Amino acid sequence: MANRRIGMISGDGIGPEISAEVRRILSAAGFDPEWVELEAGQPALDRGLPAMPEETIQAIRELGIALKGPTATPIGKGHVSANVALRKALDLFANVRPSITIPNLKGHFEDTKIDLIIVRENTEDLYAGIEFQPHKDIAQAIKVITRPGCKRIFKYAFEMVKAQGRKRITAVHKANIMKLTDGMFLEEFYLMANEYPDIIADDIIVDNCCMQLVTRPEQFDVLVTENLYGDIVSDLCAGLVGGLGLAPGANIGEHYAVFEAVHGSAPDIAGKGIANPTALLLSAVLLLRHIGEHEKATSISNAVLKVLGDGKIMTGDLGGTATTREYGDAVIAALAS
Ligand code: NAI
Repeated sequence: MANRRIGMISGDGIGPEISAEVRRILSAAGFDPEWVELEAGQPALDRGLPAMPEETIQAIRELGIALKGPTATPIGKGHVSANVALRKALDLFANVRPSITIPNLKGHFEDTKIDLIIVRENTEDLYAGIEFQPHKDIAQAIKVITRPGCKRIFKYAFEMVKAQGRKRITAVHKANIMKLTDGMFLEEFYLMANEYPDIIADDIIVDNCCMQLVTRPEQFDVLVTENLYGDIVSDLCAGLVGGLGLAPGANIGEHYAVFEAVHGSAPDIAGKGIANPTALLLSAVLLLRHIGEHEKATSISNAVLKVLGDGKIMTGDLGGTATTREYGDAVIAALAS
């Protein structure tokens, strides 16, 4: 185990607190790799480096894999998002975000069995970062959708559906309005669907998708979508199953993989020791599965399910009063039970 090396970006805001807790829980579960600390976000900016320093990107190229805490991005000004920079540099084209009901966890959908995965294209769309201002009163952004980009995200998504024994995949789009960009996305989706006749493939317009998700979320299995819709819809789905404190994610490319929670740096609660480490912990569970450590992955996710299902020791975002550390202690105790 000790010879496995994994990059660790603690990030900023609540990042350092939840990263430390997650490492403590992983260690209690018997997973003790060599964590290679990598800088990004505010600590890098404080040293006059870009939010995602080249040396961090290069280190992940060498390590192949990393766990990442959140990093803040100023709104409307300032540095380029560390996340966007990382995903582009490593070509992490698939962002996989599961939303699964936690049994007995109280919430608006506690009686609904939600078990869906969002596969979000992670490198194109309006996130291409091509914005310009031809006139002081006009600002423009370019939405980029490419055929190769569509092909590889659909290939990944259909293969994932097959590997996980899932049944249905739904493309989420707005091709009724964006006839060329989303039109190409949809066309390529059905071309790929032809190669997987055993998988039910259909599509839905993004606004209707949001309405359906908040009324009958149990109907969906796998949603595959573009970058911006995927960003928004996955936060919505996180809300359905308990909130951002529980939602994990994986950024997967052909050569590298970076695992991170859906949530951001939560500056409103940073430094208070009350953040929920579950989303990052479940991202680490995805990492464990990615490297074939299924036993440890299952034992950690079972411990999380037990603690959250018991409902006695929970962080503030879930209506509890536990600190990050107290919650971590409960998960560690549940590992042993
Ligand atoms: P956010 O996800 O950081 O927070 C939204 C709300 O959820 C806040 O009330 C926060 O306290 C709560 N929350 C989030 N994670 C939580 C956790 N683990 N435990 C308990 N409560 C939690 O979103 P916001 O406020 O829009 O963004 C803050 C910063 O994070 C921004 O600079 C944004 O750009 C960045 N961000 C970074 C991401 C990343 O590094 N992958 C992803 C999303 C946002």
